[in-house]
Amino acid sequence: MLALLWLMLLAYTGWVSPAGLAQATTSEDKSIFILAGQSNMSGRGGVVNDTWDGVVPPECQSNPSILRLSAGLKWVEAHEPLHADIDVKKICGVGPGMAFANSVLDKDSSLGVVGLVPCAIGGTNISEWARGSYLYSQLVRRAGVALQGGGTIRAILWYQGESDTVSQEDAKSYKGRLERFFEDLRTDLQSPMLPVIQVALASGQGPFIETVRIAQLTIDLPNVRCVDAKGLQLQPDGLHLSTPAQVHLGEMFADAFLQTLPIPLQSNAPKRFHNFVCEFFFHRPPN
Ligand SMILES: *[C@@H]1O[C@H](CO)[C@@H](O)[C@H](O)[C@H]1NC(C)=O
Ligand SMILES: *[C@@H]1O[C@H](CO)[C@@H](O)[C@H](O)[C@H]1NC(C)=O
Ligand SMILES: *[C@@H]1O[C@H](CO)[C@@H](O)[C@H](O)[C@H]1NC(C)=O
Repeated sequence: MLALLWLMLLAYTGWVSPAGLAQATTSEDKSIFILAGQSNMSGRGGVVNDTWDGVVPPECQSNPSILRLSAGLKWVEAHEPLHADIDVKKICGVGPGMAFANSVLDKDSSLGVVGLVPCAIGGTNISEWARGSYLYSQLVRRAGVALQGGGTIRAILWYQGESDTVSQEDAKSYKGRLERFFEDLRTDLQSPMLPVIQVALASGQGPFIETVRIAQLTIDLPNVRCVDAKGLQLQPDGLHLSTPAQVHLGEMFADAFLQTLPIPLQSNAPKRFHNFVCEFFFHRPPN
């Protein structure tokens, strides 16, 4: 009875089409995730003196069910460093992406094949991601290509803001710029309720960290969730998350994402039902 009510709610709100409910997940039905932001999303875990130590923890191992869209726009089996051919001006190490993918698959095998679309570039500020910019266009283009092989974009994982903590003016503009960025992406990816999981900064490159952090934590858009980087371990460089911290962050991303999911309908339904209803009643979209 509860299950039936659940299905009707989902169909009514457009989260899942009734036909979609009947389909089994196939490898063409990828669960696609966009990874964007700056260096901590790109990944510097294990990079010391411009050399990556090559350490890949068990949580970040490759798996035939985890693909990545290469810089050459091909799906390939994903492995660390995930952004090596994307963030090419820097030495990349471990980021949160592989730990996220492994964790999400462990917890919900119905997601099928995970397709990661790395787009993060170190040192970038929010203005460089605005609609019309190179980075924005690349993201939308890569997302479009990712969809061509079949599948659904399930979420954007976003970790950025350190570069916007330097001037008070930029920090103050951050919230508006960030909301605009998410709204533009949802429009251009034709997914008005696309889940966004973002990270609240623990520190940054300038003094206005708290302003940016508050902007991130109080963002006023439906279906945007925030995980907190406060307390995560930095590497000896004092600048970037260590490999163990990235593993932890990837798992936090996974848990936050799973809470946005209305499926699968069976096992975890009561918990998600609750979350979903909260989301639905408190952040109902204008239409
Ligand atoms: C990195 O470089 C510094 C300065 O040259 C040196 O003291 C340190 O031992 C190096 N660390 C590693 C792990 O190579
Ligand atoms: C963002 O970065 C670009 C390129 O480095 C720079 O020209 C611009 O002034 C920066 N904008 C802000 C708001 O920090
Ligand atoms: C990476 O993330 C950590 C934790 O939020 C933060 O302290 C650090 O400033 C970030 N580094 C850069 C270069 O953005």
